[in-house]
Amino acid sequence: MSEIIIQGGRRLEGTVRVQGAKNSVLPVLAATILHPGQTVLRGCPHLSDVEASIRILRHLGCSAQWEGEELVVDTSSMDRWDVPDHLMREMRSSVIFLGAILARLGWAEMSYPGGCELGPRPIDLHLATLRRLGAVIREEGGGLRCEAHHMAGREIALSLPSVGATENAILAACGAEGETVIVNAAREPEIEDLQTYLRAIGCAVRGAGSSTVCVEGRRETHDAVHTIMPDRIAAATYLAAVAAAGGEVELENVDCRHLSTFTAALHEAGCQVEGGEGRACLRSRERLRAIGTVRTAAYPGFPTDAQALLMAAMLRAQGSTMFVENIFANRYRHVDELRRMGADISVAGRVAVVTGVPRLYGAELRCTDLRGGAAMLVAGLSAEGVTRVGDIHHIRRGYEDPVRDLQALGADIRLET
Ligand code: EPZ
Repeated sequence: MSEIIIQGGRRLEGTVRVQGAKNSVLPVLAATILHPGQTVLRGCPHLSDVEASIRILRHLGCSAQWEGEELVVDTSSMDRWDVPDHLMREMRSSVIFLGAILARLGWAEMSYPGGCELGPRPIDLHLATLRRLGAVIREEGGGLRCEAHHMAGREIALSLPSVGATENAILAACGAEGETVIVNAAREPEIEDLQTYLRAIGCAVRGAGSSTVCVEGRRETHDAVHTIMPDRIAAATYLAAVAAAGGEVELENVDCRHLSTFTAALHEAGCQVEGGEGRACLRSRERLRAIGTVRTAAYPGFPTDAQALLMAAMLRAQGSTMFVENIFANRYRHVDELRRMGADISVAGRVAVVTGVPRLYGAELRCTDLRGGAAMLVAGLSAEGVTRVGDIHHIRRGYEDPVRDLQALGADIRLET
């Protein structure tokens, strides 16, 4: 059982190059199925969720190999359309493969993605979207059996701007005859990155990043090279760490536009934040001060994935900060762990109130989920004494090497296997 061990209390200083975005590379890997040929992905992060996606592609008959720092995928020999249960259970966002498999082969089978630590993860919007395009989907015995040989473009109005449902709609629409218009689409930057990749292989997609995305289906596709966009939540993680522990950090490979709500919160808390071309700097000298209510929302609102990270940074701030988690039903599971360090957090439903304490104490913690685990690293860096974080497989899903990156900032942090 591996653990991350942190001796907290050190001021942090240095430079970190931000990894490629997990929430971009996962839909892009599914999208490679749309082109029966080769895709070269650059800037692809080494994550366990990426390895899980590679296992799915290989199960489907595709090849996916690391060649140095490039991930080379070739789906020309794809000969299956089923994603077995054990692969679905490894990564609940595997449902993102459904639209692409249907677009390519007209058949798809997969088990229901399990719930996850954030609460139920329904896929009703995904299925309604695919049915709207003409897919016949039978839900039986915990699995989905889908047929869609004659998908036709339609207008699809999403009842809420679901990231995954928007991505599945775009990928399925690439296999539909005619034009599809997706209304109330999610506007996350990762969807723009997916559009950039789809255009690179020859698909006709426009409007990603806005609430209306249009797809002209069944275009000729060709090989392409694509560089995955920077991971805005990984960037937020390192900014939160320095804000909490005090110090100075320069981030490379970051798009500040995608971080603006997060950096605005840290600026309000008393940090100095500057953004440049592909870079961001943060300086945190004195004790942070509490900020106004933080409400998570679909992009461009405050990202739900950064809620735990900002909470960890506010644990020793002067005053109280209220958080309202509007996206997921159960995204405060990290709170009990942070309380073990002496944090003063009260939770009632979707609301959490953090009241800053003068000091935090190192403790034995267990990751509850990906971003909750990252928040525990942030809290440990600003605590007195030693923090041991277990169940770090959650962190490996979304962070390439947080120990390496935080050591680069001078943190006393190590991996103990
Ligand atoms: C994506 O999840 C991200 N995952 C999540 O990041 C992120 O938290 C989330 O978007 C919101 O930004 C990936 O991109 C792989 P949603 P997704 O569909 O697509 C409800 C991380 O930490 N909903 O936008 O699953 C759903 O229950 C992960 O990196 C339905 O009701 O999120 C949630 O309450 C965690 N029916 C809300 O919508 C559906 O069919 C938003 O979910 C689909 C979603």
